[in-house]
Amino acid sequence: MVAAGAPAGGDGPTGPGSAERARAAAPLPAEATGGAPGLGRLSGRRILVVGGGQSAHGLDDPPIGNGRATAVLFAREGAAVAIADTDRASAEATAALVDAEGATSAVLTGDASDPDDMEAVFSGAADAVGPLDGVVLNVGIGAGFLIRGTTAADWDRVMAVNVRAHFLGCRLALARMERGSVVLIGSIAAHEVLPVPAYGASKAALGSLCRQAAVEGAPHVRVNLLEPGLIDTSLGRAASALDPRREQVRIPARRQGTGWEVAQAALFLMSDQSSYVTGQRLIVDGGLTVGPRG
Ligand SMILES: NC(=O)c1ccc[n+]([C@@H]2O[C@H](COP(=O)([O-])OP(=O)(O)OC[C@H]3O[C@@H](n4cnc5c(N)ncnc54)[C@H](O)[C@@H]3O)[C@@H](O)[C@H]2O)c1
Repeated sequence: MVAAGAPAGGDGPTGPGSAERARAAAPLPAEATGGAPGLGRLSGRRILVVGGGQSAHGLDDPPIGNGRATAVLFAREGAAVAIADTDRASAEATAALVDAEGATSAVLTGDASDPDDMEAVFSGAADAVGPLDGVVLNVGIGAGFLIRGTTAADWDRVMAVNVRAHFLGCRLALARMERGSVVLIGSIAAHEVLPVPAYGASKAALGSLCRQAAVEGAPHVRVNLLEPGLIDTSLGRAASALDPRREQVRIPARRQGTGWEVAQAALFLMSDQSSYVTGQRLIVDGGLTVGPRG
């Protein structure tokens, strides 16, 4: 279980004094809120974001999700972006934001865990925006609560969406991309004990897939794994509703991350700024996994 220790902002050896409280209350940088201008870091690139829509999870005005923020930031940085999702309306909403950045967008629908759908998504994306040189595999779901509350069907569905989809995406990317970068979206759940065992096991499997794909893809295609911590997205809020202790986890950054901050890390892994980085995992968690627990 991620230790549900002292609430962020509590006292203790690393707890905030008044100076620290002032720092914690400081406004977020534009990079964290979606306000930073593009710098052309993906100029001319053609990128597919699988799971580029956003689940609402019943929220009227949800914060931006990881996949949507990534698609928008990549567009702002000069890429043409194809967005694939099971939810067409949600993918179209992301595409409208991509268009608003002045970039080319395309929308594909399909189930990322289905081999035929993924073939069609990759083909459709290349037809729409040109030969791909970047793929973000963002799909991820949770199901089941504790082992005793997880059915075999829950387990299989989570593994299909969170691992098989990424395997299919890697296989297609390595077969079809002459060069470029693949970013797998995992989670620090891979290294923690949470009440969602299928989710944790699925995310742990991505480390092995990443290493394998990086070696097979070298030297032309880099493959890296981005592992977000607690991010304030609609999916994150749904996870907190399931287990309210998620809101109490002690995070050295004293706040949850934003979808934009995940997107900024994905941008690093996608762009040539990380030209010598492959087969690695990048944790984006405000220090959660290295901070003191409980
Ligand atoms: N929010 C967090 O705290 C957090 C933390 C760690 C990791 N993550 C990871 O980030 C990723 C998603 O974040 P998000 O905010 O973009 O979530 P999101 O649920 O808003 O977006 C994911 C999109 O994927 C789509 N999708 C789901 N299953 C699909 C399938 N089988 N085929 C095609 N599309 C499918 C959904 O319709 C949705 O639009 C997941 O991999 C999740 O595990 C999130």
